[in-house]
Amino acid sequence: MNWTVYVRTQMRALFSLDTWLPTELPEYAVGLMYTLGSLTASSFVILVLSGIIMAANGPQWWTISSVGFYLRGIHFWSVQAFFFFMILHLLRVFFSGAWRGGRERTWLLGTLALFVAIPTAFTGYLMRGDFYSQWNAVQSKDGLNALGFAWFNPLNAGQCMDCM
Ligand code: HEM
Repeated sequence: MNWTVYVRTQMRALFSLDTWLPTELPEYAVGLMYTLGSLTASSFVILVLSGIIMAANGPQWWTISSVGFYLRGIHFWSVQAFFFFMILHLLRVFFSGAWRGGRERTWLLGTLALFVAIPTAFTGYLMRGDFYSQWNAVQSKDGLNALGFAWFNPLNAGQCMDCM
């Protein structure tokens, strides 16, 4: 098989409708436990969309206007839902041994998603500008220092200006 045929075959499998919206599921994949991944993904979509709208309008908007404040609430609760479902999903995958049988890379990709999500959520908390932010910044500063990341000081919101 020449390489263009190979690429085309792979692409057809990767981008087919049946890959992304399968009409048949494995027999074991029924029941609530198998909806946890999709619930994680759904909360993630709401999280990203509300985040983009908030970032586009700025902190004045999301703290003062009623629509902005409502969207801030949606963003906050979608983060809670995202982590809640992700951890339940992780536990389901772990305790049903679903990381076996060629799904090791899926597990590793999930781990990566979790380890990217945690610091990202942390930056969101730092941006709140209230006592939660201050508490998190003070506590995490010591933790980051202990880990050798003293160059990142969460108490100094203007530190990037210092680097220039
Ligand atoms: C951004 C977060 C994540 C999303 C959106 C997500 C989404 C999904 C979805 C939709 C499925 C298929 C349906 C299901 O089993 O629920 C799935 C399966 C799977 N996920 Fe996740 N996941 C995430 C995080 C994780 C994490 C943290 C792990 C583990 C470290 C993980 C490991 C797996 C594995 C091994 C499977 C295959 C399970 C099987 O074949 O039964 N995922 N994921």
